[in-house]
Amino acid sequence: MPITEVSKIWMNGQLVDWQDAQVHLLTHALHYGSGVFEGIRAYDTRKGTHVFRLTDHMRRLERSAKIYMMDMPFSVEELAAATKEVIRANGLESCYIRPIVYRGYGEMGLFPLKAPVDVAIAVWPWGAYLGDEGIEHGIRAKISSFRRFGPNSMPPAAKATGQYINSSLAKVEAVKAGYEEAILLDDSGNLSEGSGENLFVVRNGVVATPPSASDVLEGITADTIARICRDEGILLKEKVMVRSELYTADEAFLSGTAAEIVPLREVDDRLIGEPGPITRKIQDIFYSIIKGENDRYEEYLEWV
Ligand SMILES: Cc1ncc(COP(=O)(O)O)c(C=O)c1O
Repeated sequence: MPITEVSKIWMNGQLVDWQDAQVHLLTHALHYGSGVFEGIRAYDTRKGTHVFRLTDHMRRLERSAKIYMMDMPFSVEELAAATKEVIRANGLESCYIRPIVYRGYGEMGLFPLKAPVDVAIAVWPWGAYLGDEGIEHGIRAKISSFRRFGPNSMPPAAKATGQYINSSLAKVEAVKAGYEEAILLDDSGNLSEGSGENLFVVRNGVVATPPSASDVLEGITADTIARICRDEGILLKEKVMVRSELYTADEAFLSGTAAEIVPLREVDDRLIGEPGPITRKIQDIFYSIIKGENDRYEEYLEWV
């Protein structure tokens, strides 16, 4: 998707002009995928702009960095403050936020620990990743021939730049085949997640999602859905599932910061149908939260 340019990007503690946010060709992360990042959203509401679960995203960034033994030069609090600063500097009311912590210029080779660690936060306006139509009526997905990697190949718990080549292979395969999104199986062949979203399957009134042992990234949207289910008395469980459980689901949906909550209308040409009542209920509550219309979840909104 094309990027909409804004005026400033935060780099290593300073606001720089958009065009000047450059890195050297020999930046370590460009060659070896040695970066960790986040995807966050800021929403415009009647009460102003908030960043949804900003601190939780920055904590996950810190955990991703820990897995790759990167010393973060900024604290979670500093990064949260920097995020608000760059949103304000660009005068944005709503936007997508991309913090990235990456191995910079100065070292080459596969032992990265001496390479510098740089940090940047970019923001830009970005609409529904899988389209408004997808959120409303659901999308068509394909189970990918590319598997999600297991924790002993690459840690799925880390949101690391290099790891996204896997998601990209799956996404391209699905889109080229005429579908909107890919669903990956885990290393053992069980359902895992979408190329950039967690997966939920509803059968007989029970919501199920693959556990972390099915090689998923522990999503912050998924965690929000877990809380909504708890609050609404909807039974939610983590469950190892096979693809036929998705083919025969009563309802199914994907969740992620970029995509938000997107129903699955069809998987591998098996019809699931228009979004069902449980999906709709979870969507309605989620959207009321991010629009700042649901006081029960006020602590998730970090005001700019
Ligand atoms: C592979 C993958 N799974 C799941 C998610 C959903 O996570 P979140 O809800 O925190 O955006 C993402 C997005 O970050 C992702 O890239």
